[in-house]
This record gives sequence, C-alpha cells and structure tokens, in this order.
Amino acid sequence: MTQIRTRIQPVPRRPGELGVHSLDHVNFSVPDLEQACGFYGCFGLDLKQSGDRLDLHTHGHSHRWGSVVEGPRKKLQFISFGAFEDDLPRFRERLETLRIERIDSPPGAQSNGLWLRGPDGLPIEIRVAEKSSPNEKLTHESVSSPPGAAGAPSCSTKPFVRPRRLAHVLIFTRDVPAAIKFYSEVLGLRLSDRSGDMIGFMHAIHGSDHHVIAFVKADGPGLHHLSWDVPSINHIGLGAMQMADKGFSAGWGLGRHVLGSNYFHYVRDPWGSYSEYSSDLDYIPFDHDWKAADHPPEDSFYVWGPIPPPDFAFNHELAS
Ligand SMILES: [Fe+2]
Repeated sequence: MTQIRTRIQPVPRRPGELGVHSLDHVNFSVPDLEQACGFYGCFGLDLKQSGDRLDLHTHGHSHRWGSVVEGPRKKLQFISFGAFEDDLPRFRERLETLRIERIDSPPGAQSNGLWLRGPDGLPIEIRVAEKSSPNEKLTHESVSSPPGAAGAPSCSTKPFVRPRRLAHVLIFTRDVPAAIKFYSEVLGLRLSDRSGDMIGFMHAIHGSDHHVIAFVKADGPGLHHLSWDVPSINHIGLGAMQMADKGFSAGWGLGRHVLGSNYFHYVRDPWGSYSEYSSDLDYIPFDHDWKAADHPPEDSFYVWGPIPPPDFAFNHELAS
C-alpha cells in the first residue's frame, strides 16, 4: 500500500522580533450595498452576505479579506492586522509601555484582539489570526503557446478572472512620516520604500509582499485602494475588460510601478476609490533585510503606463 506523505511547511517567523504578520482585513462603509455587490462580484471576488455585512472573499480561499457595511457615505471604518497568538501578550505590554490607550471594538466588529487608534484616529485591531500573508513569493505566469498553436482564447471563451488574495491596502493620511513611525513602533511593520513625505510602503517582518499597507498624503483619512493579486499580466488585462464590459471602464492601467515592481490596472469603484488588479509584486522573505530607500517623486511612481487620471490621488471620502 502506497503511503502519501504531505509535508507541512512551517510558518516562517523572524526570531526574537515583535510584529504583526499580515494585513488581516479591511472594513468600510458604502451608501448602497447592492452597488458594492455589483462592483466586487464583477471584479471576481466571492461575496458572502452576513446579516447586514457583505464579506469579501477570493475564490478557493477561506479567508475574509474585507467587509462592507451600509452607511451614510463611503468611509474607511477600520483595519485589522493578524499576529501570532503568543505575541499578543507582548503587544499588550508594548501598548502599555508606549501609553497607547486601548479602545472598545467598533460596533459589529468580530474581535478577539487589541483595539487602538492609529494616525488620523483610525481604529486598528491587532488580532490573533492565521498568517494570510504569503509565506513565499507566489507564482507569476507567463505562458506562450507552442509553435503551430493559437495562444489567445476567443472573446466569447475568455476566462472569468478571480483574484487569488488581497495583496495590500493604500490609505490616505494627513502625515505620512507620522504614519510610518506609528506602524513601525506599534505594529512592528517595516518601511520598504518611500518618496519623501508623500507616500510610504510597509511590509510585515515575518515574510510578506513589499507592502501590506501604504500611505499617501491627503487632508484626512480614507481608503484609496484595495489591491488584489492575480497570476499574470494577461489576467490583469482580462480583468480590466471584464470590468469594462459591465460599465466599469474608468481607472488607470495597464502599467508597472517602480516601488513594489507590480504590474497593475486600477478600476475606479462607484465611490471614487479603486480596486487594483496586481501581479508580481516584490516579496520580502522573513530572513531578508530589505534596504528601505527614499526615492525622488519623478522616479518612484510608474515605469510605464498611461498618464494617471488627474484625480487619482484625490480623497473622495473627505468630499462626500
Ligand atoms: Fe497598489
């Protein structure tokens, strides 16, 4: 009888250092949940209605990457980060040492964690969770057809794109250096790259993408985009067409970023923020010390791609 042995890979962990391991999930409100169903369903996410909450999942993945609730306007509600269970007491001590006040969990939040206020007053949770950041760089496909065979599908048979996971969130903040300092000292994230005081990208120390969260300067807090990983540039193009076919043609792409290196196409959502199809984002292993750098603005945004929309970095949450 043949025995099938499966090797369970240990979860990577940077020894002796305290830091969250993942961006766990992001919660925000919108004025019309039906509109959110239409947008994210078309984007290729798996949606689960849970009471008055719409949960965002990816195909074949049990993790809840985000939740949308109905509210008077679109508004970033809170961000949860995942931590190892035995690190939670150390985070509790750290909050006490830094004299950071703990707050009650927001109404409706499912919580086992520590709640605090981040920069701009944004509620943040450090929760015990399975590591949802990838433990290694995910595959990036580039498939070429063999000689004598056609490579492209027809329009009518093209596949429906379903992102693999949430890659990162980019949020607005009044003070990018203050946000970098806070997320470093309190959550244990590390700076990957920045461009002056305008934008900063941070990774998790136990192995994560180049950024799990990024900050861009604005007059107040808000959600700029959620980024969803797909396996290839072709999937980005197919996703963009999938959205355009349903009327979601506004956005920015196809292009390639400098910081993080990912290929992208951003689709503008009904509230003026974006969902990004992203592929081949740089990965920082748990045992690698990424050299953070400050890049000049003219050499940090994108290597190639169309000119971005003039209001690409406008925080519509402040206007609504
Ligand atoms: Fe992004």
